[in-house]
This record gives sequence, C-alpha cells and structure tokens, in this order.
Amino acid sequence: MCGIIGAIRSDGGVLNALIEGLRVVEYRGYDSAGVAVIDGGQILVRKKQGRLENLEKVLEDGALEQAPVGIGHTRWATHGEPSDRNSHPHQGAAGRVAIVHNGIFENYLELREQLTAQGITFVSETDSEVMAQLIDLELQEGISLENAVRRSLRRVEGYYALGAIAEGPDGAELVCARKGPPLLVASTPDAAYLASDVLGVIPHTDRVVYLEDGDVAILKPGSIQVTDFEGHPVQREVAKVDWTPGDTGLGGWPHYMLKEIHEQPDVLARTALDRIDLERGDVNIEGGQFSDEFLQGVSRVQVLACGTALHAGMIAKYLIEGLAKVPVDVDYASEFRYRGPILVPGTMALAISQSGETADTLGAARLAKELGASVAAICNVTGSTQMREADQVLLTHAGPEIGVASTKAFTAQVAAAVLLAVRMGRANGNLSVQEAKELLAGLRDLRTKMEHLLSEPVREHIRALAKVHARAKGFFFLGRGVNFPVALEGALKLKEISYMHAEGYAAGEMKHGPIALIDPGMTIVSINAPGHVADKVRSNIEQVKSRGGVALSVGSHEGSHKIAGQCIEVPETIEWLSPILNTIPLQLFSYYIADLRGCDIDKPRNLAKSVTVE
Ligand code: G6P
Repeated sequence: MCGIIGAIRSDGGVLNALIEGLRVVEYRGYDSAGVAVIDGGQILVRKKQGRLENLEKVLEDGALEQAPVGIGHTRWATHGEPSDRNSHPHQGAAGRVAIVHNGIFENYLELREQLTAQGITFVSETDSEVMAQLIDLELQEGISLENAVRRSLRRVEGYYALGAIAEGPDGAELVCARKGPPLLVASTPDAAYLASDVLGVIPHTDRVVYLEDGDVAILKPGSIQVTDFEGHPVQREVAKVDWTPGDTGLGGWPHYMLKEIHEQPDVLARTALDRIDLERGDVNIEGGQFSDEFLQGVSRVQVLACGTALHAGMIAKYLIEGLAKVPVDVDYASEFRYRGPILVPGTMALAISQSGETADTLGAARLAKELGASVAAICNVTGSTQMREADQVLLTHAGPEIGVASTKAFTAQVAAAVLLAVRMGRANGNLSVQEAKELLAGLRDLRTKMEHLLSEPVREHIRALAKVHARAKGFFFLGRGVNFPVALEGALKLKEISYMHAEGYAAGEMKHGPIALIDPGMTIVSINAPGHVADKVRSNIEQVKSRGGVALSVGSHEGSHKIAGQCIEVPETIEWLSPILNTIPLQLFSYYIADLRGCDIDKPRNLAKSVTVE
C-alpha cells in the first residue's frame, strides 16, 4: 500500500535517498510513483504510473539531483484510477506546496466543491489533492508550512500520513503529520528523514521516532521537532531498530519469497527457542507479559486478523481450545468491526498481524478495547501501531518480510500461538507439565525437520509435482482439525502468486457441495498428520478420488499417501505442531507453480503487503 518517504539534507542531493527509500517500500504494493523536490526555491515534481523504473527514466535528465529537500510516494490507487495525473506528489494551484499522502480524507468531495467554487481547478481525481489545495491557500497568507498544515488538517475528516514541502522565508521546509497510517521520523547529524516504513530509513540510521496520532513534525538537517496539533512541543521516545539494511537484500535468491521460505528454520529458532523453558515445562515471555495472574482471568479469546494472519489465528483457536481449554472465537477483522460484536467479561482480544499496521485489524482491536477486552497482539514489527496499542505483545522474530505473499511471518505466528497456548494452559492449570514439556521439545525439534523440507531433493520433488499440476483447471486444498487452516493458507498462497483458482475447504465439508466440481482436471491437495482425524481425511480423499479428481497428499500420514498416489512426505511431529511443517511444502508448491507460469512472484498484481486503509 502507499509508501511515503521524505528527506532534508544540509549538503543537498536528497534524490538518491528518496529513490532508495521508495525502492525498499516497493514491496508494499503500488501502481505509480513520484517525487517532488525544492531546488533554488522552485518545486519540481516528477511522477509516473507503473513501476519505479518508469519514474527513474524521467529523472535521468538530472534536473532534481542536487535538491536539498524532497518527498516521494508509491501509490496504491483508492480514489481515482492509477495514472500519472493521480500519482503523488500533488501540488496546489499556485504551486506553493507539494504533498504526499497515505490514508483517506473522507470529506474530500465536499471540500472539493467548496474549493472549486472559489475558482480552484483540480487536476486529479484523488482525495489527497484537496490537502495540497488547502495548504496552498493557507500559504498565501504568508504563514509557515507547519501552521498551514495544521490549519488545513483542521478542515479534513479522515486519516493520514502526510508529508509536505514548501519554500519558506529561510529556505525549503519539510513537515509531516500523522493520524492513522504509520509514519516515523529520524535524524542524522546532517539530515532528517520521514518514512511510512522503518525500512525506508534504516540505510541512514537505526534510531527512529514513531509519530503518534495528532503529531506534526518539523524536520531540519540534524533535528526534528515533534509538536501536537496546537503546535506545543511533545516528547517522543527514540526507538532502536533491530533490522539492518542487509536484512532487506535478496542475498542471491531469485525472489524474496523463496529467500523467506528458506529463512523459516532460523525464524522459528528466534521466535521460540529463548522462550522455551523445558525444565519447568513453561514459556517465558518478556517483561512478565501474559502472567499467571492475567491469564487466570481470561475466560474467552477473540482472535482478530486478516489474510494469512487470520489463518494463523484459526490455528491458534485449535491450539488454545485444545491445550488451555479456553474458548476462542475467530473473526475476520473487517467483519468484527461492523457486526455489533458482544464480548463477555474476561475476553482477551488477540490481534495477529505481521505488519502491525493493517487498518482492519487495528480498527477491530480498538473496538474490542472499547467493549472492555484487554488487547494482546502477535506482531512482527517493533514500533508498529498494533504493537504500541496492545496491552501485551508476543513479538515474532521473522525479520522484514518483503515478499507480498506471507510465508515466514505465518509460521512464526503459528509458533507464537503454540507458545501462547502452552503459557495459557500452564497458567490456568489445564495443561500438565508433562504435556507442556513434550510440546515444547517438539517445537524445539521442528527446526531440523524444517531444514529437511527445504533440502534440495525435497525441493526438486516439489518442483516436479508443480510441473505436473501447473496446468490444472483448479485446486481444492483439504484439511481437518488443526490442519484445516493450513488448507486455507495453501489455497490462498497459490491464488495470490499464481492467479490460479484454488479453494481451501474443511475436508469433511467437501461432500456437502463442492464435490460437484470434482473432475479429472481438478487437483485435490490434502493435508494430513497422524492423529484423531487422520483416517477421516483419508476417506475424504477416497471420496474425491472416486469421482475422478487427481489427489496429492501432503503430510506424514502413510494411509493418505497411499490412497492419493502422489505425495509430499513431511517429517512426523506432534499433531498440534504439524501445521508449521505442512505449510512449507505448500509454500514451495505455490512458488514453483507461479514461477513456471512466469508470474511476478514478489509483487503479485493488485495486492498490497500492508493494507493500511479499510
Ligand atoms: C494483506 C497481505 C496479506 C496479509 C494481510 C494481513 O492483505 O497481502 O498477505 O496476510 O494483509 O497483513 P498483516 O500485516 O496484518 O499480517
């Protein structure tokens, strides 16, 4: 989704920082890109529909290269089609300001009418342009950019991360403001930066300030002043970023997705190992969070998440109910917000989000809080809005996930869910020390099993199967119990990156309708692990096979492999932990199919990595 970057430097030459910043936020998904700089008192804007390379072409004349201040933007269209005209930055009619915006100005139509009546001509269809026009008019009064921004923001309703540049009496000015979408600022001795994503500033510094809602920040080379909406200075903590620029490179891999799939054994180790206390049969969570006292008061869990994170949340339901015996509800965050939910006292809302910036998940968690729940989060990004708003956080240590299709963040979320379920079960006494010890030892041992699944012979076998199935008419992914959400995730991964039609289904539900679709053109991928539903899944495979479907069995259940004929063998583990292993071959299967079909694997069409609007 939209990415924002801004820079001001005492020695000039911000263009490179802007382009590099835009390149690292590219992964979030976008359809156009643009920059605006001020050089010699003049605002210069260049913007282009399509990939960053299109913008770079028009920058080749070098006209913007020496500028000491600028802003950049990657746009994911919401109001107005993707086009050069609708791309950011936007300028006011008198050309006094250029702005970049992420979010939505909900009353923009009304403002647009008022401004049009005042004789302003709009050049784009975006809601964002109203802000450029408003600031432009305010600047006519000769006030500073920060005050023009504040006054203009008073007239809008909605959400924004905003960056603005204008020429002031003492030279070029750079100001930003936040309400809703993420925005952070950072300074070095001779520069200052703003970005919507921490990856945008880590090439320059590892110290950042996450802005809060209502903050307006004034950036100068070497200094940042954060103020509230009225202009009073406010103190914001400087946070240290753990990620390094090296974490964001391809490191020789052809795609980020493949790189990130291969990082999973390390991610599991980073997320789980230090927290496992095998001697006590318990889990240590930093800062005394998820304490016995707190968890003993939790009578119900409400999972809130979107996309892949929702599938991790569905697995969390099986785990928490099965191990800690606490009832769990799971909602799409976008549905929870508008269905008038009723929460019982003692509810712990559990928001699961890789980015910690998904608007639907944030909105749902805020509503849960309003309804009296305590909010816990499983989250991957330190300093993200979700992390800062939650009462307690279980951080996954997946590192930056650049591929749009989530892989390592998912298995890290499931590992975190195992840790949380064990902690809850130990705290409320529903899980014995012995059971907890077995689970935690099993979790620790997954690392080598994951490595096996990523070894060359297994990968080659999966690639060969991908070749066989790449021309299928469609796919069903079937699973039961704790592997039912794995089936949903397997189908989601395939459709996200290969654009093939795939559906995930509870295996037992096939016979109630979807089985009508089975014919020899359909591939049925079943996911199974030895356990109480394994034989039931096997008979579900028999039902589809006997109707002509082509079956591929994934997991560690011999019986299912035999019936299916084609299989991907997964090392055996405790049933509760099997989703972590079973997911990996499905990720590789999707990856190889998408690769064979020549798809843009890391940047699938229409998708955004982090969806910061509703
Ligand atoms: C987008 C992404 C998905 C992701 C979902 C939730 O739709 O394309 O891959 O699962 O957002 O993201 P989150 O950052 O909240 O986990």
